[in-house]
Amino acid sequence: MPFTTVVASCPFKIGHTPLTAYQVRIGDLTHELLVKEERCNEFGSVKDRVAWYILSKTIEKIGPVKSVVDASSGNYGNALACICQRLGIGATIVSSASISAHNAAQIKGAGARLVIAEPKPGETSNAARMRVAGEIAEKDGSVFLDQYSNPLNPAAHQNWTAPELFAAGPFDAVFMTSSSGGTSRGFADYKKAHPGPTQLCLVEPESSCAFLDSPSGCTDKLKIPAFGSQRRSSFAGMKPDPGMIRMDEAATLAAFTLLHEHQLSKVGLSSVGVILGALDWLSRQDTPSRVACICADGDERYLDEIQSRYIPAVGQQAYEAARARLAPVIAGMRLVGPVQQTAKAAAQ
Ligand SMILES: Cc1ncc(COP(=O)(O)O)c(C=O)c1O
Repeated sequence: MPFTTVVASCPFKIGHTPLTAYQVRIGDLTHELLVKEERCNEFGSVKDRVAWYILSKTIEKIGPVKSVVDASSGNYGNALACICQRLGIGATIVSSASISAHNAAQIKGAGARLVIAEPKPGETSNAARMRVAGEIAEKDGSVFLDQYSNPLNPAAHQNWTAPELFAAGPFDAVFMTSSSGGTSRGFADYKKAHPGPTQLCLVEPESSCAFLDSPSGCTDKLKIPAFGSQRRSSFAGMKPDPGMIRMDEAATLAAFTLLHEHQLSKVGLSSVGVILGALDWLSRQDTPSRVACICADGDERYLDEIQSRYIPAVGQQAYEAARARLAPVIAGMRLVGPVQQTAKAAAQ
């Protein structure tokens, strides 16, 4: 396969993801909510962009590589494993016991080595992954791509995801999950270079301390992969501070099953948390607004484990109560359909 580091001629079907429009009725106002469908990238998530960008820019800098290693909660590892398989590069993905069955199977199916990092006492699972990935690189000579601290991670979004989205603007606000901070830092850096009125809002559960202090001292386990993070983001410190919205995991799960049952959306769990954050923000507006949500992946990564893993994690009672509360909110959403992206957007 010809090798190129240029985003516009990436040899995989990554980028130019669709935008799906919804009308949202809240009180007397009708708002427009746009979903950036990152699940439509070739390997199924927004992390396809990051995996390609970091790997290709690294090769551009240091020349061909035989093998790479990196830490991942799942989606990035899945994308990196698939890209490396196509390019004939060995890959080791260091994840945690919380990795989804879907991502674990995809990584192994792409011929990569999957290592599950055991945290030491007092160590977060994220820190354990980074530590073990560094140890492996030292031991076997694989190139450590270091997505959680590598500035190429936010740069992928600054130079690729953000210009693609903003070409379909203007937006009153753009929402994404904080997670490890790659997407949000990239969007913040893009906005700094292209000032405008759009507000950037990060959505995370209470147990996350990616950008805010967690009331629990960040000891509670996260229940949804990559929805928030138990480790302070290496990419924190953007100016101006983004808006922060806390969204609980039981509500996220309840909205996920409601959206699915109404065939309104096929986005994944963290993405539904982001949509709920946007609905919460819209409920506080007094004029009709137009907002966009970066929806990181798709429902296929979660559907198999909704009953066995996620509902027990948030508690059946909390889940049922959230469903009753959110049913009218979801009923106020109407799927309009795909937005025609302009020539300007297609040319990014
Ligand atoms: C499900 C999910 N949501 C959101 C994100 C975005 O996280 P970040 O911005 O830290 O890359 C990721 C990244 O792995 C993810 O897997």
